[in-house]
Amino acid sequence: IIEKPFGRDLDSARELNAAIGEVLGEDQIYRIDHYLGKETVQNILVFRFANGIFEPIWNRFYIDHVQITVAETVGVETRGRYYDRAGALRDMVPNHLFQLLSLVAMEPPNSFGADAVRDEKAKILQAIQPVGQEQVLHRAVRGQYGPGEIEEVGPVRGYREEPEVGPDSATETYTALKLMIDNWRWADIPFYLRTGKRMPRRVTEIAIQFKRAPYVLFRDTPVHHLPPNQLLIRIAPEESISLRFGAKVPGPGLRMGNVEMDFAYADYFGSSPATGYETLLYDAMNGDATLFQRADSVELGWSVIQPILDVWGALTPRGFPNYAAGTWGPWEADELLARDGRAWRKCE
Ligand code: BG6
Repeated sequence: IIEKPFGRDLDSARELNAAIGEVLGEDQIYRIDHYLGKETVQNILVFRFANGIFEPIWNRFYIDHVQITVAETVGVETRGRYYDRAGALRDMVPNHLFQLLSLVAMEPPNSFGADAVRDEKAKILQAIQPVGQEQVLHRAVRGQYGPGEIEEVGPVRGYREEPEVGPDSATETYTALKLMIDNWRWADIPFYLRTGKRMPRRVTEIAIQFKRAPYVLFRDTPVHHLPPNQLLIRIAPEESISLRFGAKVPGPGLRMGNVEMDFAYADYFGSSPATGYETLLYDAMNGDATLFQRADSVELGWSVIQPILDVWGALTPRGFPNYAAGTWGPWEADELLARDGRAWRKCE
């Protein structure tokens, strides 16, 4: 069983795969990504493929865009030595965020067998539109936290003051990306990804934003603007799925409010969230590799972010630290969506 980081770029991941491949067969290797052991993450497959009502609208005709957020309140704790050589992009994106992205975007597999599922996930990573080096500045944002205050933690120091981090470190603790998937289901539908440390709240969620109703039917009423429907898959802190839609506010006249239909794991199953590792270690002992990373997926993940690593490695970031601890990241991340006429979801 091999835990991430699996290499630190595409070349080193290839070398590592080749070296391990000389002594073990692929079916003997379990590359662990603890996100795949989380119940809500696995539930994405059940939600999409065990229910008939969602799949017909799960495409570019009904979905406007998708946002994936992994926000943490923690800083780098005692891991400065590792983290300062890694950064948010390497630490979180080709592994955890791409797992979430592929489960949301993949085609239905032929079966629930390890290779059938992993083949479809790999196809999504292959379909991500390559981010050319010249596009990196428009498609990727990096940030580093300075000192600040987080409601549930109190005042905290900046990243450069953390143990084992250099006083002029250029490592990013926040990243946001805009990715496009070049296939028939998703052409022209952006997937916005963001992850950062020392954010105001711990939130891991996938927000599917649907297209608006085609026009506002309610003439001569206070309803001029129809907020889009949203499906929210929450992975942390609580595990839940909710669907947001508009409803009439009771009373004379026509006023509209946003309401949510909620399913919380704890209410139905009374389960307490586990870290993910428990399930995965159990599966490995049973020889079930469905929830483990195959060599090709690891390399595909790295190949998507390699141009960003190259450009960022070559250009020293300007203005670091560029967000205060306890805020939602640098303003460039808001710009990334504003340029498309969109905004990040406010994670309440
Ligand atoms: C790890 C990263 O893989 O995932 C950490 O190295 C990060 O930096 C952690 O904090 C997040 O995992 P979870 O389960 O707390 O969302």
